[in-house]
Amino acid sequence: MSQHNIISMQDEQRLFTPFPSKTAGTHIRSLEEYKRQYTRSMEDNEGFWAERANELLDWFSPFTTVLEADMDTPDIRWFTGGTLNVAHNCLDRHLELGRKDKTALIWQGEPEGDVITYTYEQLYEEVCKFANVLKKYGVGKGDRVALYMPMIPELTIAMLACVRIGAVHSIVFAGFSALSLQSRVVDCEAKILVTADAVLRSGRVIPLKSNADDALTACPSVEHVVVVDRAGTAEQGNLEWKEERDIWWHQAMQQSDIKAFCECEPMESEDPLFILYTSGSTGKPKGVVHTTGGYLTYAAHTSQWVFDIQESDVYWCTADIGWITGHSYIVYGPLALGATTVMFEGVPSFPSPDRFWNIVEKFGVTIFYTAPTVIRALMREGLEWTQRHDLSSLRVLGTVGEPINPEAWIWYYENIGKNKTPIVDTWWQTETGGIMIAALPFATPLKPGSATLPLPGIDARIVRPDGSDAEPNEGGHLIIRKPWPGMLRGVFGDPERYKSTYFERFPGMYESGDGARVDNDGYFWIMGRLDDVINVSGHRMGTAEIESALVAHPTVAEAAVVGMPHPIKGESIYAYVTLKADEEETEELRAQLRTWVRKEIGPIATPEVLQFAEELPKTRSGKIMRRILRKIASGSTGDFGDTSTLADPSVITELVEGRTELT
Ligand code: WTA
Repeated sequence: MSQHNIISMQDEQRLFTPFPSKTAGTHIRSLEEYKRQYTRSMEDNEGFWAERANELLDWFSPFTTVLEADMDTPDIRWFTGGTLNVAHNCLDRHLELGRKDKTALIWQGEPEGDVITYTYEQLYEEVCKFANVLKKYGVGKGDRVALYMPMIPELTIAMLACVRIGAVHSIVFAGFSALSLQSRVVDCEAKILVTADAVLRSGRVIPLKSNADDALTACPSVEHVVVVDRAGTAEQGNLEWKEERDIWWHQAMQQSDIKAFCECEPMESEDPLFILYTSGSTGKPKGVVHTTGGYLTYAAHTSQWVFDIQESDVYWCTADIGWITGHSYIVYGPLALGATTVMFEGVPSFPSPDRFWNIVEKFGVTIFYTAPTVIRALMREGLEWTQRHDLSSLRVLGTVGEPINPEAWIWYYENIGKNKTPIVDTWWQTETGGIMIAALPFATPLKPGSATLPLPGIDARIVRPDGSDAEPNEGGHLIIRKPWPGMLRGVFGDPERYKSTYFERFPGMYESGDGARVDNDGYFWIMGRLDDVINVSGHRMGTAEIESALVAHPTVAEAAVVGMPHPIKGESIYAYVTLKADEEETEELRAQLRTWVRKEIGPIATPEVLQFAEELPKTRSGKIMRRILRKIASGSTGDFGDTSTLADPSVITELVEGRTELT
């Protein structure tokens, strides 16, 4: 199939029949088998999940009830009566299952020579030690621990140490600003913050602890900060240090009372496991809460069926652990299965655009999971970079985070998978805990650009705004009808928001916030967010968050932020800003405002375009008409639909003219 033969997603007709699995352990080997499992999971939902939970996990005491669910309240409980520990499932049990000397984690640092591998036993010991450090500094069951760290092994160790003692981790992506960190730490009242002196990125050393210090000026709950020495600052001795509060990781781990053994805390299935903040359409980010038994069952189940992870695989997910993809598919899913998981500190383009392919070759990666934005960026670099490396170890490819355009899909299929490797396009969310809609690699015929079919156990549907079922090919709201073990159990500290965001609009269903259609073959085509959330390079950004950062600037009177199509990032941020009466619209101020947002939220929130606007298009009742702003941002100069409710229609002309002057 030629790369030039690109057709739009709406008319995409190509179908790729599945390759037979060469691996004896593959669970689902045909479309018929998938259908059988799917039907069974719908007819005997609880039986299906009980079987998976028992097959995949080691329970200290068995669960007595599979599911208690009320999707209206909402109140969802899986596997109650059961007790377990996630660290036990990801580490201890493997030592007894003959995986003591098996590589659990391969860490590739940004400098080529920085590689550390941990066997299951070594990882277990490090986790036990850090669990003891946490205990020593007063962390106990139910306490929150914030992790603000680069992609270094200590992050994985800290996560597993938390869950070992029943502490709840809340990871904040290291690219977020001090203020973003602060609001998350304050919201979850973390007792300890674990961070590093710096982040190594594209050959540069970017301070990290200084951000943490700034954040902690207003985080009264934090008693201690544990700092990993990533950039050699400990020896240089030039880091700001608070003697009472700050502790070096390496020193803490070497203390004589820190033993390499720590009992696992038995946890109830519904005890909280972690909190992860994600952007919503309104207000501040919400702390999505996941719990122990259901989440781990789901992470392990999906890792096993969607990636077909087997004993001999070398599995690599390129996400950052600061996002849900890294939680479920670098750490918890693969380690629960006893797999070898790769963790990479750097970026795809440094020192050259073949970094990923270099790593695939170097470690013989067999399963590779990345984001469409990465594929699009690497496509641009040309084939010389992929051709330099032996990619023949690969047997399953995956994507996540945003719709993949058929052009990028075909490039991935031809040049990375060499026309013999299935691609699983996986649709899911922070809230779903794990993959919901995706191909099973050796069973599902593939259509480029479609996430294909819901996994067994997942009752995904498209509904109209009134909640009735949409017809095939009719776009609508993507909802889930039956509960599933990986679903979120709350928004930390805000039960009202939990209910109103996900369970109110369509009673008895989980509302994803995404739009999609299902074609005549039952394949799902995700169309993107229906709410005011922008997906920039697969990262969710709330427009409201960016707007409130902008209006916090002393020169800004009003701001409206929308998404605009971007060839590599999928979407990028377009901000319209109205200045206060006596402020002047200068290039300098434009640059200042972009830097301001970067500082307030983080580099990923920086507006790609910032247009000064005398006025924003508003209805007579004062509501901003974002539909119009989105059209202008995407380059439309006419056909704005019904504008009769606008208070002042001439605003549109001015905005369109303002756009043409953009550089
Ligand atoms: C989008 C990331 C199309 C979607 C796991 C969703 C996708 C949001 C896909 C969740 C996909 C994720 N195809 N869109 N395969 N995967 N999305 O919470 O809009 O960071 O709602 O979770 O990303 O982003 P989140």
